[in-house]
Amino acid sequence: MEQTLILLKPDAVERQLVGAVLRRFENKGLRIKAMKLLSITPELAQQHYAEHLQKPFYPQLKEYITSGPVVAAVLEGPEVIAVVRRMVGVTNGLEAAAGTIRGDYSLSSQRNLVHASDSPEAAKREIPLFFGDT
Ligand code: CMP
Repeated sequence: MEQTLILLKPDAVERQLVGAVLRRFENKGLRIKAMKLLSITPELAQQHYAEHLQKPFYPQLKEYITSGPVVAAVLEGPEVIAVVRRMVGVTNGLEAAAGTIRGDYSLSSQRNLVHASDSPEAAKREIPLFFGDT
């Protein structure tokens, strides 16, 4: 069964939307296989967002993702990577379709509540970064 990594980012925790977001995934039928609350260090941010290091928005992204606790979780289900990406919606909350998490809860391209692995290769790389011990 396929697995994906999700992060409920600092804005989701701050806005007390953790339960609302997790409920959507559970209602869909996806299983939570691992979950924890943690603070992302600058080093972990750099590893997790390696592909964005050279982007102009990276300094802001690092500030944001290290600004408060996040909830990291591994979700499991059939085609879970694509299913979760569709449920999360496109990056910019202003453009995300109504009915998606970002479409319903975000107005920002940065503070967009949830990260979700975008491919099997990304999931394979990202899950051990957060759950190397599982
Ligand atoms: P995520 O899906 O976690 O992947 C990279 C993150 O960088 C993205 O969500 C946003 O939080 C952030 N991001 C992407 N594009 C921009 C942008 N143009 N400006 C600011 N932050 C961005």
